[in-house]
Amino acid sequence: MIGNVLLTLPVIALTAHSCRAAPTEGKGWHFVQNGTTGIVALESIIVSDTLAIFFDRATNDPLEIDGHPAWGALYNLETNTASPLNVTTDAFCGSGSFLSNGTMVSVGGHNPVIPEAEDGRNGIRVWEPCDDPNGEGCVLFEDPEKLHMAETRWYATSLRIFDGSVMIIGGVHQVTPFFNDDPVNNVEFFPPKDGGIPRPLDLLERSLPANLFPRSFALPDGKIFMAAGNQTIIYDVEKNTETRLPDIPNGVRITNPYDGTATLLPLHPPEYIPEILVCGGTNTSDQLPMEELSSQTPASDQCSRMTLTPEGIERGWEIERLLEPRMMPEMILLPNGEIVIINGAQSGYAAIGTVKDTIGNNSNADHPAFTPSIYTPDAPLGQRISNAGMPTTDIARIYHSTVTLTQKGNLLIAGSNPNGRVVNGTQFHSEFRVEYLNPPYMTVERPQLSNVPKQIDFNSEFSVDVSIPSQGDLKVALMDLGFSSHAFHSSSRLVFMDAHLSEDGKTLSIKSPPNNRVYPPGPAYIFLTVGDVSSPGVRVMVGSGATPPVEDQGVPI
Ligand SMILES: *[C@@H]1O[C@H](CO)[C@@H](O)[C@H](O)[C@H]1NC(C)=O
Ligand SMILES: *[C@@H]1O[C@H](CO)[C@@H](O)[C@H](O)[C@H]1NC(C)=O
Ligand SMILES: *[C@@H]1O[C@H](CO)[C@@H](O)[C@H](O)[C@H]1NC(C)=O
Ligand SMILES: *[C@@H]1O[C@H](CO)[C@@H](O)[C@H](O)[C@H]1NC(C)=O
Ligand SMILES: *[C@@H]1O[C@H](CO)[C@@H](O)[C@H](O)[C@H]1NC(C)=O
Ligand SMILES: *[C@@H]1O[C@H](CO)[C@@H](O)[C@H](O)[C@H]1NC(C)=O
Repeated sequence: MIGNVLLTLPVIALTAHSCRAAPTEGKGWHFVQNGTTGIVALESIIVSDTLAIFFDRATNDPLEIDGHPAWGALYNLETNTASPLNVTTDAFCGSGSFLSNGTMVSVGGHNPVIPEAEDGRNGIRVWEPCDDPNGEGCVLFEDPEKLHMAETRWYATSLRIFDGSVMIIGGVHQVTPFFNDDPVNNVEFFPPKDGGIPRPLDLLERSLPANLFPRSFALPDGKIFMAAGNQTIIYDVEKNTETRLPDIPNGVRITNPYDGTATLLPLHPPEYIPEILVCGGTNTSDQLPMEELSSQTPASDQCSRMTLTPEGIERGWEIERLLEPRMMPEMILLPNGEIVIINGAQSGYAAIGTVKDTIGNNSNADHPAFTPSIYTPDAPLGQRISNAGMPTTDIARIYHSTVTLTQKGNLLIAGSNPNGRVVNGTQFHSEFRVEYLNPPYMTVERPQLSNVPKQIDFNSEFSVDVSIPSQGDLKVALMDLGFSSHAFHSSSRLVFMDAHLSEDGKTLSIKSPPNNRVYPPGPAYIFLTVGDVSSPGVRVMVGSGATPPVEDQGVPI
């Protein structure tokens, strides 16, 4: 969030941190720096094997288009170069998702501060499937007059649901310095439902004022889990009903500007029992004025996990502890079902220039968390979180940073800018450097998938050719790589698929998910993991590929 607040405090002494030169080769986890983003990558999504899209605020980014600063960019993952994307409206602090027909939509944004951008607060921006590896001839379509949301929304969540539409949740109508003081207490859909009239949602009223970017997931029965502030619910889209779930324990809140993060744990056949994990955030009261908060207040190290069955909800949240407190972390699902916990700061809050003791120009947060951790869902309680063997970076990834898994199977990390515009030369300056976090499998011979069908139906068996260099247990993952914005990875999902290897070890028969609720219809990547080595991903369309809303497909579970 912005405040066009200028520096009012003397620059605080730089925290010393060692710049360790980590090896970039050999077995093990490595950070590898390569390329620059041209704009601050505060939103990111992988749109093809070779391309990511980034969005920033329309301000003074160095990358230019038509003689003015760009606020959208295509990042080529092969060449590690950014090129400008022609965006009409200001996409600042929006979100996005794929639809069931493979089109990506970016939603929401801001009222711009430069004349070249148009008002993006009710923006809908459409990126049709793009086959060209360099994005030649592909454009972001906008028609602000005719194609827009019913409400103006800044800091809203967007999420693909069981009928292939995008559900757009909450947000603030327009600029606010910190808390949600002009809330949009409703949800709407794209393409629209109910004649385009938004549906009020009590959760959003109840969870004010730290409830931006509600952490939301499509559950395998089609209902939606949502967390906002310390409140959680299951929302039934078809009946328009809310069922309250237990609060996140110990007063911990996890939505902006108190950003923790959340993920739906990998779903396994045959039951696909959903479990939610939320980590980080803060236990600070949301009733204090922002002037009384400090960049030095430790963030929360709490992770809370709940199984969303009647018995699991009865048991409530199970608590575990991160290795360090984190404000604004993200969690990234890996093809083997483990989760990387990365980015964020160990103290302070999200947003810009609003609390006491801001750092550098404007950072509300301090003490970046430089070492990722791994969360192993199947390990016993107390032994799930580890950073053994993890490398340490010296690049802070705090407010307005992003991270996403790529088709190659590594993590693309970009952005960070706790400033209202591009600021260089200070502590926590605008960050343009790209870093990859490469898992150990990036430097060994990997399994490969080939002859993968371009489209797969639900509840069907299909075959792919495989090359498997070493023995081990097989896992086949169907993944949505999600959309990264503000410490949350919306639509991110991993569904394991049963698979059977032929006797000659060359063909894998795979059973697709039973229906469009277990995996909302739309694009996905298939990854094969053998032992502890994962293949690169192969992109498929899951379901009919029709334009939403689509009918139910497959069989019920
Ligand atoms: C900030 O640094 C970037 C990358 O080094 C440079 O391209 C850009 O022009 C600088 N911008 C400002 C406003 O100083
Ligand atoms: C950076 O990326 C370029 C283009 O893909 C590649 O040629 C180069 O080897 C990479 N450098 C490092 C250090 O990985
Ligand atoms: C960007 O879009 C604008 C408005 O549609 C158009 O006038 C301009 O020519 C486009 N620029 C490029 C480089 O495509
Ligand atoms: C959640 O926050 C509300 C106030 O907003 C508070 O009354 C409630 O006790 C909190 N729940 C927990 C479990 O801390
Ligand atoms: C937050 O947690 C810390 C550490 O557990 C504790 O000392 C503090 O009292 C808590 N604050 C609130 C407002 O609950
Ligand atoms: C997908 O559906 C959206 C919403 O109706 C539409 O704007 C877009 O053109 C469609 N894309 C394709 C590839 O059909």
